[in-house]
Parts: sequence; structure tokens; C-alpha cells
Amino acid sequence: MTIGYTYSDTGEYRIDEITVVLLRMHELARGDIVYVEHPKNGSPVVYQVTRVYPHKRVRVYEESLLKDGRIIGDSDDAAIHAHAYQWGWMDEDSSLRPLRYPLQPNTAVFRADRDVVSKFTKPSGEWKLLLGTDPSTDLDVELGVYPLIRQSCLICGAVGTGKTTTAISMVARAAGLNPPVRFFIVDKDGEYTSLVDRLGEESVLKVPWKRFFQPSNIPWEDYLTEFGWQKTWWNAKILVKGLKILYAQAATVTKENLRRAVGYVGMDSLGFNKKAEEFESYRQQVLNSVNGSKLIPDGDMEPLDPVELLRSRRVVIMDVSSGRDTWAQKHLVISQVLRRIFGEALENRRFGCIVVLEEAMYYAPQRGVFEIGEKDSRGKLLGVIKEIATNGGRNGNGLWIVTQRLATVEKTVVTQCANNVICHSLEDLDRQRLSEILGEEFARLIGDLPQGEAIVKGTALRCRFPIWVKVLPEVYPASSITTPMSRFVFMEQASRGIAVAPVQSDV
Ligand SMILES: Nc1ncnc2c1ncn2[C@@H]1O[C@H](COP(=O)(O)OP(=O)(O)OP(=O)(O)O)[C@@H](O)[C@H]1O
Ligand SMILES: [Mg+2]
Repeated sequence: MTIGYTYSDTGEYRIDEITVVLLRMHELARGDIVYVEHPKNGSPVVYQVTRVYPHKRVRVYEESLLKDGRIIGDSDDAAIHAHAYQWGWMDEDSSLRPLRYPLQPNTAVFRADRDVVSKFTKPSGEWKLLLGTDPSTDLDVELGVYPLIRQSCLICGAVGTGKTTTAISMVARAAGLNPPVRFFIVDKDGEYTSLVDRLGEESVLKVPWKRFFQPSNIPWEDYLTEFGWQKTWWNAKILVKGLKILYAQAATVTKENLRRAVGYVGMDSLGFNKKAEEFESYRQQVLNSVNGSKLIPDGDMEPLDPVELLRSRRVVIMDVSSGRDTWAQKHLVISQVLRRIFGEALENRRFGCIVVLEEAMYYAPQRGVFEIGEKDSRGKLLGVIKEIATNGGRNGNGLWIVTQRLATVEKTVVTQCANNVICHSLEDLDRQRLSEILGEEFARLIGDLPQGEAIVKGTALRCRFPIWVKVLPEVYPASSITTPMSRFVFMEQASRGIAVAPVQSDV
């Protein structure tokens, strides 16, 4: 169906971008796909609309008439212009190629119907997941799973635009495929708990972050750093000796074991030749510090192995929501866990998993922009994440990051994940960042998307151009169960002494 003809204000016609004058009664919207016929072989050469605006001839007297409130109601005088840029045409092997031959001025432009668009929205193969629908054609938009692992994925958007809903729905669908994709989710606020209800307890396991802590994996200097001691100090020497005793006994590092070992340390073995009371006071200092340590666990808890857990479950959620003020430790434990997963992926060709980082800026912050925890542990964690971002994909260890603020996430990580982008509405600053990574046109397409809608681009799509998607939720994040209003209703009822009903979903 012809919807218009190419047009130029200047008389010069380009092929990378076209302006279309729409035929009367025809419409286009930003994001729509149109095409012209290839001048040599007739295949559709596809363009995507970035701007639609009415154009009206300027009349000298118009301004004076308007001043008197007189509008020239001559709608015939205006034409709708649409600006579109070229994506290219598909050759016999279904690869997208740019058009290189010039187009005649005033070439006919057609609306891409479902047949044409579906060629670009459906990835080939069976291992794919539904993301949502393209509102202009109502076609399903699906993503290939292989590229989402091989080239990772970035899900971004401003506060409350639907990022977590998108991510959690993708996880739920991918975990239900054949074969099911396995996920390790680092969940900052306990948002992914709803997956347990959706997929069942046999498929999803939620684990508090502390249960992954491997005390024996901690280099001894880290304890000294925690206590702020120099290696040459006596208390440091006593502690290290105690750790050596534990190591020799192959015992785990716990507060109790370490206290006992510290008790065995003799002053002679360290060459301490001052008064015994003095030595005892050093020993006491060590015992006090051990008791107060955040790195040394209290009980003899067997740490959980994420790789082991992933063998029997499709989704393992590492819940980092408890312990608000302990980011240095969280970073340490997360880096231990990710290193373990990445290490296994490198060594074992029968293991794979996608790591999901919700609120990625807490784990891979951009230096100087956002800082949390301590330099040392933060650096360790960033190191592993960068490695997964750059080398994980080809070893079956994909990375999906979810973020509100692009600018606060470390650049390499964002760039590596930007091969697949699902972008909800963004703040100006982050839109600028996105245009640095993906180009002006992409950023312009985003505009102000309503909640739950996104622009998607990447290798996981069949086509290489961005598509507008209304995301179809499969699961909602835990936070959407209580709305801000329900909290106040609850408080009001409680303060009036009314018997309070359990909090229920009121969305
Ligand atoms: N695809 C969607 N379709 C319909 N409603 C949606 C969709 N996505 C999100 N919503 C609604 O928007 C609300 C916010 O979604 P969500 O929590 O996923 O946003 P977010 O971007 O993760 O927010 P935050 O920045 O707070 O983390 C949800 O409670 C849900 O009701
Ligand atoms: Mg969220």
C-alpha cells in the first residue's frame, strides 16, 4: 500500500535518510517501518520513522490574522511529513544490506505490512522467548536466547518504567524453555521472590547472601585490612599465627575456631621476648577483634556452592536485601560467588548460566560517579564482572544487567552488554549516554515511552534495527504487590485500632 512519496526541501535526495510526504488520509508514527522498492531487484528497502510533523506553506498575512484570532481553516494546505532513516534490505541469505544505488526523486513509499515486519521480528530457530508485541503491527516480538547469552543484555529505564517487570518476565520465560536456561540472580531488594511462586520451589531457590560466604577463600591480609593493622604489629602476628594453626588443622575459619587457635599461640613461637602480661594483652586485643569481625562467621556454617545449587535448580536468587550497611562484605561475597560461577563455566563445558545483576550500579559502579562499600572489595567485584562481561558469553556465562542510571554503571560493562538493549523511558542524562553507545537515532526513538513499553535493539532480534515493544508481563516484581497507597491505608487502619487485614495486592 503506497502511503506517500519521497520529497526534499532542497531538491537533493539522499538514500540514508528520506522525507516522505504522506498521501491524504494516511498516517505514520514514530518507530513505524516503511519501505521503498530496491531500484535494481525490487526487494523492500526498509526505513524506520523517527519524526512525523505537519508542514504548511508559510503565508505572509497569517501572523496578522492570528493576532485577531482568525484561523485560516484550510486543512488542505498542510501536508504530513515523515522523516525516516534507512536500515537496508534483506538478501537471499536473510542478511541485512545497505542500499547503495540512488532512488529516483518522489519514489513511492509503502507501509511495511505484517509480512515484511515479521521477517525482521522473528528470530529463526526454536530457542527463543517472547518479549511482547509491536504495537504498530500487533506482531509478537521474540528474542533469540543464544545471542542473549553470547552477547549479554542491558535492560534500562528511569524509575518505575518497568525494568524489573521486563527482566523477571524474561527470566520466567527463559527458564521454561527446552532446554531451560539457568539463572543466577543478584537481587538487591528481594524483587525476584515472585519467581518462587510462579515457577515453583523445585525450580527456584532463594538464598540469603551470607550463606555463600566462603571464609577460607579470604586472603589473610583482608582480616588485617578489616582491623586496620600492619603486618609487623604483634596483634597481627598473633592473628596470622592463629590462622596458620587452623590452616594446618584444615579447620574452617569461624569465630570459635579462631579464638581457640589464638589461644594456642605461644609467645616464644613468635619470638616475643617482653613481659608475658604484655603478650596476653595483645592476645586479648586479637580476641576482641575476632569477636567483632564482620568477615569471620559466627557459626560453623557450611557455605553453599552456587554451581552445585544451579545443577538442580533453574533459578538461584542471591538475596542481598538484608544488612543495609554491609556493602563491603556483600561485594566480597558476590565476587566470590561470581568467580566460582565464571571459573566453572571456563572449565566445564557442561555448565552454563546467565548472571542477572539487578541495579547494576551497586556492583559495577563507574569510578568517581557512584561509590559504595570499600575500594578494595569493590575493585575485586568489578574485576570479575568485567571478565564475565567480556569473556563470559563465549563460555556460556551470559550477563544481564538491569539499571536505572546508565551513567553510574561502569563503561566497559555497559558497552559489552549493549549488544542487546531493552530500553524503557530514560532521563536526559542517561539518554545522552545511550546515544554515545547506540547512536543519536536510537536515543531519539525512545522519546517518552509509557510504562511497560520499550525500544529493543540487538543481536537477539532478527533485524538489526530498533523495534518498539509493549512488554507482556509474565511475572510482576515483589514490590508491585504493595503499592504506596496500600501502605498508608495500612497505617491509617492500624492507628485507628481497626483489625488490620493482611496486606493484599491492590494493583
Ligand atoms: N509491561 C508492563 N505492563 C504493564 N504494567 C507494567 C509493565 N511493566 C511495569 N508495569 C507496572 O509498572 C510498575 C513498575 O514496574 P517495575 O517495578 O518493573 O519498574 P522498575 O523500572 O523496575 O522500577 P524501579 O525503578 O522502582 O526499580 C509495576 O508495578 C507494574 O504495575
Ligand atoms: Mg526495579
